[in-house]
Amino acid sequence: MSDKVLIAASLLSADMARFERSMSEVASEVDYFHCDVMDGHFVPNLTFGAPVVKAIKRISTLPLDVHLMIEKPASWIDDYIGAGLSSKDYLTFHIEAEPNPVNALKKIQDAGIQAGIVVKPGTAATAIKGLEKFVNQVLVMTVEPGFGGQKFKEEMLPKITEIRKMFPDNVLVAVDGGIDETTAPLVYEAGASLLIAGNAIFGKPDPRNAARNIRFSANPNHFVC
Ligand code: DX5
Ligand code: ZN
Repeated sequence: MSDKVLIAASLLSADMARFERSMSEVASEVDYFHCDVMDGHFVPNLTFGAPVVKAIKRISTLPLDVHLMIEKPASWIDDYIGAGLSSKDYLTFHIEAEPNPVNALKKIQDAGIQAGIVVKPGTAATAIKGLEKFVNQVLVMTVEPGFGGQKFKEEMLPKITEIRKMFPDNVLVAVDGGIDETTAPLVYEAGASLLIAGNAIFGKPDPRNAARNIRFSANPNHFVC
């Protein structure tokens, strides 16, 4: 288990008419802004694409964690390179959506962007075996992708631990879906170190404090210097 808890605020739950203000409200308490790209096909919901990610990148004071929930992700990678993602940003896509993940991951890394693979709740850890050398992040979905504010699937905890053991220490294990003050310590204990939260941050009256509390609940030692 790593001591450092990283927090990403998922903009899916932010006020999309005022991204800049929502982001600056929480920026001091989070490490990344998580951007959920949905195409209405891979998931039954539609959000935004590369032009909006480009706009967010321009105004963000923090690195981005871009989560592609789209079919044929490889064919869109050039657009996300063009959106200005750089060496501190992550671009992740679903294993279920891409028949040739190694090529897609290499393409992202060759562009100087951190590459990541995502697994849905129904996908076993074995589906990403062999990708150890090609990923910088593995994202374990702890809800079905598509919507914010869903209930955390506790049965994903063993998969987080399995994936943590499968991948080298320098690969970030992330979790997305239903992360709040109660579930953060569970996923951290299981081996996740990047905690993505939407509703539990932006759905609260004081989003900055909510983000801080999630980090604290995962590992109170994080705040001890
Ligand atoms: C769901 C998205 C998540 C979503 C999480 O498909 O990938 O990033 O924003 O939302 P919460 O934290 O509200 O479960
Ligand atoms: Zn997401």
